Amino acid sequence: MKKFSKSAIISLIIGVAILFTACGNATASNNNAEESLSKLDQIKKAGKIVVGTSADYPPYEFHKEVNGKDEIVGFDISIAKEIAKDLGVELEIKDMDFDGLLLALNADKVDFVMAGMTPDPERVKAVDFSKIYYNAVHGIVIKAENKDTLKTVDDLTGKKIGAQKGAIQEKIAEAEIKDLQLKSLAKIPDLILEVKNNKIDAVVMEKPVADSYVDKNKDLMLMDVTFDDGEGGSAVAVKKGSTDLVNEINKTLDRLIKDGSVDKFVLEAIEMVDGE
Ligand code: ARG
Repeated sequence: MKKFSKSAIISLIIGVAILFTACGNATASNNNAEESLSKLDQIKKAGKIVVGTSADYPPYEFHKEVNGKDEIVGFDISIAKEIAKDLGVELEIKDMDFDGLLLALNADKVDFVMAGMTPDPERVKAVDFSKIYYNAVHGIVIKAENKDTLKTVDDLTGKKIGAQKGAIQEKIAEAEIKDLQLKSLAKIPDLILEVKNNKIDAVVMEKPVADSYVDKNKDLMLMDVTFDDGEGGSAVAVKKGSTDLVNEINKTLDRLIKDGSVDKFVLEAIEMVDGE
């Protein structure tokens, strides 16, 4: 076997080292170029925008079989499609637990969040929000057989109350109902099951969502009480500092609010829930 001289081996090692450093630098400068692009430019370059949602919230967002295929639909999704269309890019939908959405946004796993999300003061510290595109109060779902014992908020005192994990309804329930035993679960359908099975007494959720579930479950009903959170309403969340993106989103929202499309999307979404 041919022997390599010591100096040949050393120059080989140096050569490989230089090659590695060069490659390393090339990737580093690529990353820098990517980072110096604004969020909006990155999206345009990719030709795609990713929305994060929690599709357990009809008529905002929910799963539905369309032509034998499972799809995520709802008025948030209709609005998200318009946002993508106005930007000239494809829309990709990522479905996850509600309480993981803002983490995903800040980790760049999604470009924006649409999930009937209320811009409450705590969230406003962590992310940026668009204008409000839809307002709703909060309803309370109970078992129909309990309608005579659960009539007023006082009747809920000390009861087991459900709310979605990470949602403002946890705080609303705690503020409005005395001595409650709060049960937080990640998914709305699981909370609904808990009421149906008498594991909890009531669930607080946005009224249009409560209506959807009550329509589908004849053993459930809405209490005659609603909670208004004051700050209310749903807005689109983007990563903090994505000013150009949120400006574009607000333009689309302005258009859709002004020409009545949001109202139309809400009605269409409610029809889709009913049509199941
Ligand atoms: N509006 C409430 C909040 O922002 C609940 C939203 C829940 N959304 C959902 N897609 N499950 O906390």
